[in-house]
Amino acid sequence: MKILYCGDVVGRAGRRVLIDTLPRLRAELALDIAIVNGENAAGGFGISPEICQDFYAAGADLITTGNHVFDQRDLIGHIDQDPRLIRPLNMLPGTPGRGSAQLQLANGRRLLVVQVIGRLFMAAYDDPFGALEAELKKHPLGAAADAIVVDVHAEATSEKMALGHLADGRASLVVGSHTHVPTADHRILPGGTAFISDVGMTGDYDSVIGMAKDVAVRRFRSHVPGPRLTPAMGAATLCAVYVETGADGLARRIEPVRIGGDLSPIEPGPAGAERR
Ligand SMILES: [Fe+2]
Ligand SMILES: [Fe+2]
Repeated sequence: MKILYCGDVVGRAGRRVLIDTLPRLRAELALDIAIVNGENAAGGFGISPEICQDFYAAGADLITTGNHVFDQRDLIGHIDQDPRLIRPLNMLPGTPGRGSAQLQLANGRRLLVVQVIGRLFMAAYDDPFGALEAELKKHPLGAAADAIVVDVHAEATSEKMALGHLADGRASLVVGSHTHVPTADHRILPGGTAFISDVGMTGDYDSVIGMAKDVAVRRFRSHVPGPRLTPAMGAATLCAVYVETGADGLARRIEPVRIGGDLSPIEPGPAGAERR
């Protein structure tokens, strides 16, 4: 299966590069599945039902979120209506929405997408390790799903790597999101699971993690509340990972993808890690 996962889309600049680029990537890479993290798509804070529709129309099959999932209040009543929109599995039990979703491709193959959220330097969530362990036990790779993607939405690389090793051999891809900065550690773990600590954001990198840099810098220098953070509006970079899985559901290849904006572009090509 050929899978693309696009990192946190931030604001209008991020939406624009995603919507402009995803249809071409779908065709060029002959993608089976495109997953998009949309937690910052609406002005940097959350995602609206309308933006979800725009992403589906551009070729997204499934949208993951994160700690910002409910920043747009109209999503609270909407999330249970949309089976392709998920939030972290280990949010508190009274939270609307679901933490995983299963997709069936036209050829009958099934993909499970799970999202968990970390606890280091984050709010108080339930145990992501126990939640992921239970979900993977419930859905054995190869039996319950032909491929499994785990979105680990967390601040600390250590926590993300630990969750990657927990899932190694039982998921196709463990992909980190949330920090908005791409890491260079994409690889295939010993058990066959593709991993990257953070895929990076889809947004304007001439910014502080996607937000206009002047206000962001000022907030680090004074306790006086300043103007609201707003997304940077310059040319955005789409940051993603491309993964190919084999018949056993494990990864054969992982490649970083960066398109547009002022990060060095990495077009899909020979920059990845392979396993034969
Ligand atoms: Fe984010
Ligand atoms: Fe986040």
